[in-house]
Amino acid sequence: MNPTSQTTNLRPTNAAKANQLMKKATQLLFMVAVIGQFLFVVHIVSFYGSSFFTGDYEHWNKVLYNGLIAGDIIGNIALMVHLFLAAVITFCGPLQFIPKVRTKYPTFHSWNGRVYILTAILISLAGLYMVFSRGVIGGQIMAMGNTLNASLIILFAVLAWKTAVARNFTAHKRWAIRTFLVVSGVWFFRIGFGLWIAINGGAAPGSTEDLGGPFDVFLAFAHSLLPLIILELYFYAKQKDNSTVKYAMASFLFVLSGLLGVGVFMAAMIFWMPS
Ligand code: HEM
Repeated sequence: MNPTSQTTNLRPTNAAKANQLMKKATQLLFMVAVIGQFLFVVHIVSFYGSSFFTGDYEHWNKVLYNGLIAGDIIGNIALMVHLFLAAVITFCGPLQFIPKVRTKYPTFHSWNGRVYILTAILISLAGLYMVFSRGVIGGQIMAMGNTLNASLIILFAVLAWKTAVARNFTAHKRWAIRTFLVVSGVWFFRIGFGLWIAINGGAAPGSTEDLGGPFDVFLAFAHSLLPLIILELYFYAKQKDNSTVKYAMASFLFVLSGLLGVGVFMAAMIFWMPS
């Protein structure tokens, strides 16, 4: 046998290399997301958690649109539950997607998954209650965007749970990633804002103080839909038997990781660090 042809056979094919690059790009994207979500949890716990324990609730109203309203017991409970669950879900979510955690600790994965799905549904219901009973900054358009986000979270969480119970793990993985993306919608909203401000050198054209500008309207829906569209493109590239498509997707994901990093940095500086 010709030794040269044997070496050639052992070399990874172009498609395998492209798949490998796509994997590396998603790992980088995930790492940046984990750092960003960690900073968000730190903000939630340090800002809302610490003033909850010291009883300084007035502190909340300095940053929230409605915050705690005297006499609105159910609304205030919904807000407290919402904020507590926000910390839980942002912390639990990324753990579900770490392959070592999933394979080495399957029982933890199952229980963390149940907590995650239940939390996703409860936080969305509490959010919907606040939106419809109190209103939100940005008015009806933002309320529609929030309602879309909450509806997708509940729908995808149920589908992720049902496919896990049916032991259809290919479908389960896809619905779980979709759930994670829409649950991260509020986080993407802040990242989107941060990135926009970075791109525009410190300004936010198209955004108004009452969040009624064209950029605000775009973000009201994009924070749920844009990550989902990108995910479907990724699924398409992954299953497509075409190296060029895979290389293009990998390059796009590397660029996206950079943009996400900038967005995380800006969101941390503007929204999370000051608190
Ligand atoms: C599922 C993931 C979610 C997380 C992690 C989350 C997290 C948070 C956090 C941390 C805040 C406080 C504002 C801040 O410090 O940034 C907040 C406020 C709020 N959230 Fe959510 N949220 C989620 C989903 C939703 C959904 C689906 C809705 C609506 C349907 C919603 C409605 C609201 C409202 C109305 C407020 C403002 C309360 C006020 O200004 O008085 N959230 N959320």
